[in-house]
Amino acid sequence: MRSNRNARGRPLSYCKACEMEDFAHSDLVPVLREIYAGTDRRFPHDYPRGNEDRKHWETAMTVRALRDHGVLRPDAELLGVGAGREDAMFHLTGLVRRVFATDLYLSPGEWSYFASPLMLVAPERLARLPFQRERLVVQHMDGRWLRYPDATFDAVFSASSIEHFGPLAEIAAAAYEMGRVLKPGGVLSLSTELRVDGPAGGSGWPGVVLLEDASIRRFIVEASGLELVDDLDLTMSKATLSTRCAIADLVATAGTDEEPYPQILLTNEGYVFDSVHLTLRKSSRYPASDNSWACPGEALKRRVHAGEVEAVERFTRAAASAPEKRG
Ligand SMILES: C[S@@+](CC[C@H](N)C(=O)[O-])C[C@H]1O[C@@H](n2cnc3c(N)ncnc32)[C@H](O)[C@@H]1O
Repeated sequence: MRSNRNARGRPLSYCKACEMEDFAHSDLVPVLREIYAGTDRRFPHDYPRGNEDRKHWETAMTVRALRDHGVLRPDAELLGVGAGREDAMFHLTGLVRRVFATDLYLSPGEWSYFASPLMLVAPERLARLPFQRERLVVQHMDGRWLRYPDATFDAVFSASSIEHFGPLAEIAAAAYEMGRVLKPGGVLSLSTELRVDGPAGGSGWPGVVLLEDASIRRFIVEASGLELVDDLDLTMSKATLSTRCAIADLVATAGTDEEPYPQILLTNEGYVFDSVHLTLRKSSRYPASDNSWACPGEALKRRVHAGEVEAVERFTRAAASAPEKRG
């Protein structure tokens, strides 16, 4: 454990775990305010003080990483993977040419709050932030097999999603795909869940894989073929480790004045976890090491395709059973 880097005046790393001190760091506070100040009646004039929220941190880390690494340009095209209805995608539409948001929008299953089909036709009904409608393209697409050619995007961003994509081999396939569709020099901003504590030998509960140092390096960094722009710093301050928030309490109080802060370390099913943000670059050495093992295989592609066919069939059945409108 180490002391607060902000107090020592060091720049905030681009590849790190979320910490309490980050919400007072001069590298991040202006970005948090640019995105969120004034968007919620509950935020005080000195936001983010008192409203330390890991989801806001993920959004601000994304915008900061992409801006500082030169990809927020008027001609840039960005891809969001497992984007749901997240704030980053909406905010980024004001900063680049186009944002492609992808998720399982047509068949969200248990994710219907996040990946509402409404995103496909009326994202304005779900946006919490102002955005440029004509610069947002929303598509149904499985993150484990991206239906884009190699080297299509200037940047890819993904938050709180890849840990839900399946076992480690499928997480690796998604990371491989993110690296593949980036243009040379492109940047990936990725946030996921970092296991801090939990049952011995366990790495999450059904539908969630909590990652650790070794699994992040193998199944995200190596699998992507990209290179971290900074050392990966997973240390956490004492102040951070003393925060705890149960997911059940967050769900029960979301959006109300009772919502507890800080929301940094979360607990669920005996686990404690934090957000971790990675910034990776596609260098001229791509792939930085052999990542062919992570490429989505035929069996995975067949499953992804079967999921798409099922989504279309369900949609078609629903349309066919709707009362016909006449005259
Ligand atoms: C916890 S939500 C996060 C959504 C959004 N990124 C955010 O930060 O609010 C997880 C998202 O992952 C999406 N997801 C799960 N499996 C997926 C897959 N195989 N391909 C694409 N998205 C997937 C879900 O539909 C859901 O929108």
